[in-house]
Amino acid sequence: MESEKKIMLSGIQPSGDLHLGNYLGAIKNWADRVNDFDCYYFMADLHTITVRQDPKELRRRSIEMLALYIACGLDPKKNTLFLQSHVPAHAQLGWVLDCYTMFGELSRMTQFKDKSAKHKDNINAGLFTYPSLMAADILLYQPHYVPVGEDQKQHVELTRDLAIRFNNIYGDVFRVPEPYISKVGARIYGLTTPGQKMSKSEPNGCVFLMDDPNVIMKKFKRAVTDSDTENCVHFDKVNKPGVANLMSIYSTITGKSLEDIEKEFEGQGYGVFKPAVGDAVVQTLTPIREEANRLIADKEYLNSIYKEGAEKASYIANKTLRKVYKKIGFYQL
Ligand code: TYM
Repeated sequence: MESEKKIMLSGIQPSGDLHLGNYLGAIKNWADRVNDFDCYYFMADLHTITVRQDPKELRRRSIEMLALYIACGLDPKKNTLFLQSHVPAHAQLGWVLDCYTMFGELSRMTQFKDKSAKHKDNINAGLFTYPSLMAADILLYQPHYVPVGEDQKQHVELTRDLAIRFNNIYGDVFRVPEPYISKVGARIYGLTTPGQKMSKSEPNGCVFLMDDPNVIMKKFKRAVTDSDTENCVHFDKVNKPGVANLMSIYSTITGKSLEDIEKEFEGQGYGVFKPAVGDAVVQTLTPIREEANRLIADKEYLNSIYKEGAEKASYIANKTLRKVYKKIGFYQL
């Protein structure tokens, strides 16, 4: 029997260790909604090789990330958790969608522009066609919603365009999914670079989920606030981007509104505010880190989750793939 719940799907590349941006922009959102949706979450390892990877590190992160997903609250009994390369249908539909994606569309993707500027010596075809593979990742599972941070919105919009284009030619094959972006936390900025999204490429301003509490506190104490002399906790994205970012982090973690946070720290400067944010983050991440470490030690269990996840995901993905192959005229036995 088909599930009556609406379907949610998303993924993260195991190209770096998970950080607070991934957690607040994506995973926390997913974990908060496990009971309301039929959920598929995967590690997008096929995507990582658009940038050269160290094979040993990629393998380590691919299994550690599963431990972290579970530790963050993604119960494998309620969610289908899997590794993208374990489900060949992703690459298969990816090729098909390559042939329905226009060169001009891919050229406009900001992530392609950013990454090709950063990796000038390796502007490979995969980096360019990456959004078609991401569309395949999504459309295979016929999801209603794709919960992502703001930086992935353009890719989900292209996915919608491809689904509509395909459906216009062949009939109703794909569900056209909606991006699902939360109001706070959708874009967490680096603690040392409040103008840029938090990312592993700036490790001093990036809080990793597996960081020790004292490392986290140090990163928050050194967070860039602003150059004015106001020393006042007030939400102003344009003039106080560093403070606004810390407030967003604090708000997403504690559930307090921005106004309440301003009140809470009224009359107190950044010297009080920054460690308070750090402390809230430590409180949230400590049980996650401990649980992840416990799970990482049980590789057999993690492997069994991946195996089961790949079976469940393949079953659904292959159904969509078969339909696509039939529609486009591939001879079926
Ligand atoms: P990736 O691996 O770069 O990021 C994973 C998720 O984390 C979110 N995110 C952030 N959110 C808020 N602030 C930040 N600083 C921040 N940094 C990252 C991202 O928006 C994303 O939701 N192409 C995708 C992976 C992918 C995928 C998919 C996602 C492959 N196939 C299908 C959804 C559906 C990516 O590179 O995300």
